[in-house]
Amino acid sequence: MTDAKPIISIRNVTKNFGRVTAVDNVSIDVMPGEFFALLGPSGCGKTTLLRMLAGFETTSGGEIEIDGQAMLGVPPNKRPVNMVFQSYAVFPHMTVFDNVAYGLKVTGVPKAEITGQVEEALSLVHLEDYGRRKPDQLSGGQRQRVALARALVKKPKVLLLDEPLSALDAKLREAMRLELVRLQHSVGITFVIVTHDQDEALSMADRAAVMDRGVVRQIAPPGELYEHPNSLFVADFIGKVNMLEAKVAGQSGGDLVVEVEGMGRIAVPHEGAAAGNISIAVRPEKTLLSADKPGEGVLALKGKISDVAYYGNESHILLDTETGVQFTSTVQNDARRTESSVAIGDDLWISWAPGNTLVLAE
Ligand SMILES: Nc1ncnc2c1ncn2[C@@H]1O[C@H](COP(=O)(O)OP(=O)(O)OP(=O)(O)O)[C@@H](O)[C@H]1O
Ligand SMILES: [Mg+2]
Repeated sequence: MTDAKPIISIRNVTKNFGRVTAVDNVSIDVMPGEFFALLGPSGCGKTTLLRMLAGFETTSGGEIEIDGQAMLGVPPNKRPVNMVFQSYAVFPHMTVFDNVAYGLKVTGVPKAEITGQVEEALSLVHLEDYGRRKPDQLSGGQRQRVALARALVKKPKVLLLDEPLSALDAKLREAMRLELVRLQHSVGITFVIVTHDQDEALSMADRAAVMDRGVVRQIAPPGELYEHPNSLFVADFIGKVNMLEAKVAGQSGGDLVVEVEGMGRIAVPHEGAAAGNISIAVRPEKTLLSADKPGEGVLALKGKISDVAYYGNESHILLDTETGVQFTSTVQNDARRTESSVAIGDDLWISWAPGNTLVLAE
């Protein structure tokens, strides 16, 4: 990836709507063939950024280059991109075949070539036998695939997808995630997908940009976002965290020494500097519960179980700890049992290895 030139280069791009800054000085490079996700809570500017890439929205500042070409003043239909909208608009009165053929017809592709290209696009999304159906004779997932075929048939260099799976039910959404990844591998087109669902982004994307009120907070592969979030915002948005406020007391070797109310002074491995008030955090699945006080070498808090939430494959145990902060511990239900081994009101210890502590300086 080192020598390759980005297919999309977003440089200091800003978008103001009157007094609202929807996108605030954003810079992102997307590499050719990448599956890239824009992730963040509602209203953080994801759709606005995608619409600026597609050319449906002008920029208030900054530059966008796609495939080596500056996009300023280039209309949507002259850009090497295609966009799949959130509401996957398909024409209800047209057959599946005609829906996919439409974009080719209006750009004057000869009739003889259209049939072959439409059939190819339909087979990519596994709808080769559905060409004569109308959209109302399809399931939601199949309609979504028609919308994808419509975008793919024009062979864009970049496909922009705005919450493409949000209208589907949970089970279908998971199946379509795998489909989208398979599809992207088979066509080799760069995908930029917008989602507010972190599971979706983590399971599909090669890299994701986490956005917060118009600003990009972190750009990294899913594993790095989860294991090394650069801020409390990213740690909290990408999965669950148990969080404690801490004060930096000093540095000792590769450890940061911090003072935590209710725990005293503790040392946690940390690269780089930190000072003043910070947060330390641990993921629920990286904690252990025990009836007895854990031995040396781990960080531990005493607590009382306040709730047990059963999720089938796992349970989430809520603990009121002696620091006054509520912690969650995730327990895998790997052995089948009919009664829980822990109950509300039990006194337990929650512990974790110091190396599993996230140090969050902002
Ligand atoms: N045409 C517009 N005029 C004025 N404000 C707008 C316009 N479009 C978007 N905004 C504002 O810009 C901000 C970002 O909106 P955007 O649609 O990009 O968010 P989003 O991240 O896609 O959110 P969601 O997940 O809810 O779709 C919001 O505060 C929104 O109200
Ligand atoms: Mg949106």
